[in-house]
Amino acid sequence: MIGPNSRIVSGIQPTGNLHLGNYLGAIRRWVKMQDEAQCLIFLADLHAVTVYNEPSELRRNINGMAAALIACGIDPDKAVLFNHARVPAHPELAWLLSCTARVGWLNRMTQFKEKSGKNREGASVGLYAYPVLQAADVLLYQATHVPVGEDQKQHVELMRDIALKFNTDYDVDLFTIPEPHIAESAARIMSLRDGRAKMSKSDTSDMSRINLSDEDDAIVQKIRKAKTDPEPLPESALALAGRPEALNLVAIYAALTDRTPNSVTQEYAGKGFGAFKPALAELLVQTLGPIRERLKQFEADPAALEAILAKGADQAAEMAAPTLEGAYRALGLPRGR
Ligand code: TRP
Repeated sequence: MIGPNSRIVSGIQPTGNLHLGNYLGAIRRWVKMQDEAQCLIFLADLHAVTVYNEPSELRRNINGMAAALIACGIDPDKAVLFNHARVPAHPELAWLLSCTARVGWLNRMTQFKEKSGKNREGASVGLYAYPVLQAADVLLYQATHVPVGEDQKQHVELMRDIALKFNTDYDVDLFTIPEPHIAESAARIMSLRDGRAKMSKSDTSDMSRINLSDEDDAIVQKIRKAKTDPEPLPESALALAGRPEALNLVAIYAALTDRTPNSVTQEYAGKGFGAFKPALAELLVQTLGPIRERLKQFEADPAALEAILAKGADQAAEMAAPTLEGAYRALGLPRGR
């Protein structure tokens, strides 16, 4: 269980075009957690460069994502917010841990297999070693829990194995063994044009997603045009099986109001989308409007964001230092001048 003595570490790769799916997925979960436990949240920009990223675009995405996290409610006075390229302890510990991690372990990582595809020989060494850096991200801070999606569970298991082997090989009690924390009811937000495809920044149709930067009239328009069916809403959300577009709109409404899909269908039972869509659009405008305005403020004042990230990096570096020192010491490596 997560409580005041828990320490939570989680990262997200900086990407552009943040949308409703990102907000109702990872971001909102962190916003809630920052009141329940000590949280460190970072932009995994060193992970982003495991594949080619256009440098000026990467830079923009790092700042844009940091601004979006704060606009969505991550409070830099509650959670430590930073980008890990500013904290050299991350790649330093990653090197030390890469000497503990076994090639056989990394060979089993399904994400590397997926991301490298048919061209494994042409993938970067960084992409292969990616989970070792992820282990360092977490182990540096003695994290007790790592909130991640199902897709990252294997990486958390790997960091546990690395921590355990290091502690055993060098006979130290250095690393806390972290637990994965998988959300039970993670809202999976789907495309507004196709209820079977995830809402995605790379969908060619902008009508398929609601961007955090969308103006109110665009939000209203996108919900009005969202694909649905002519049937009214049923009493029970279970009856939405086979109606993926209808289910998605109900799921969005439920996530925004912190209710269950069932309580939403009960309220709107018998009503069609002519009644439901305007209510959903209104709710979205109320939630996303203030986020969009805060995002604009950061765009107008890049120095404010820079100050927050610099402070976050200082805090993170200070928190990471004892563990990094401990790792060098355990290995018998002299440091300093
Ligand atoms: N690999 C994670 C993802 O793609 C991002 C990440 C990097 C991360 N370092 C982490 C997540 C440490 C949790 C903890 O989603």
